[in-house]
Amino acid sequence: MKDEAGFTFYDLAPGEDSFRDAVLAGLARPRKAIPCKYLYDERGSALFEQICRLPEYYPTRTEIKILQENAEDIAAQVGPHARIIEFGSGASHKARILLQALDRPLAYLAVDISREHLREAAAALAQDFPEVAVVALCADYSGPFTLPPLPGPAGRRLGFFPGSTIGNFKPGAAVAFLANCAHILGPGGEMLIGVDLKKESAVLDAAYNDRAGVTAAFNLNLFARINRELDADLDLDAFEHVAFYSESKGRVEIYIRSLADQQAKIAGHRFAFAAGELIHTEYSYKYGVEEFRDLAARAGFHLLDTWTDRDDLFSLHYFRRR
Ligand code: TRP
Repeated sequence: MKDEAGFTFYDLAPGEDSFRDAVLAGLARPRKAIPCKYLYDERGSALFEQICRLPEYYPTRTEIKILQENAEDIAAQVGPHARIIEFGSGASHKARILLQALDRPLAYLAVDISREHLREAAAALAQDFPEVAVVALCADYSGPFTLPPLPGPAGRRLGFFPGSTIGNFKPGAAVAFLANCAHILGPGGEMLIGVDLKKESAVLDAAYNDRAGVTAAFNLNLFARINRELDADLDLDAFEHVAFYSESKGRVEIYIRSLADQQAKIAGHRFAFAAGELIHTEYSYKYGVEEFRDLAARAGFHLLDTWTDRDDLFSLHYFRRR
């Protein structure tokens, strides 16, 4: 624990070994895969923010609009003195909308894996919301996790999980994540979760294959990061970004594809890649409104309300722990 400019900082981030171990294990598998959390180093987090502003990437701006249009309603239902816990807080843009609308929120705990990015966002937020106790926790929340003590007297705990990041878990893991949230939030705990909706595949394919190539750069940054941090010689020009919506699986599948038969050395180990071979980097599951309610119910949450945009692109769900 460390007191920094206006906020408290906790560092529980996985060490560098975890990245090396994950890459070596993931590339040794018959179907190569690297966990998506490693996309978010400094460069990756900055590229992701560019994705959020792309014309094809509708989720961010649609969710912000839903939040803005329903902020009063949300604030009325949440009530005064709430303590917000955001998972994957990034630049905290959406939390600002929420904090502004809420009635005297007590605390904001931001959890993110990208350390410096998190520090900057927490410092800026603490400056703009002097009445709110700001805590930053650098941690990986994709496995079981616990929270540092929240400042303030006991008050409503509201988990905030926007951006459809829940879609980056497989459904079973999404239930496990939410069940852990239910446990952490305690009796009466609530969650506000942004979920991208199922839709025409052309819209989804475009959102993950933008014309400016930012998504490709974001995905391939994972290999650039391996070169930077793991003493590797991956030939970045010999790989490409691949993303498509699988209607039968209800998910966008994202891969890096090898363009040639090739080898690379990573942290002293040799890996072979066949021409056309896919290295999995992320899934982004899309849900129907009912379908997501059922999933949350399996984690012990019952629905209080759902808000969507007029084109039914995106949904914001409000749950309470049973
Ligand atoms: N949570 C975001 C999503 O599923 C992350 C994301 C957007 C992403 N575009 C990407 C991850 C491209 C990997 C590659 O929409």
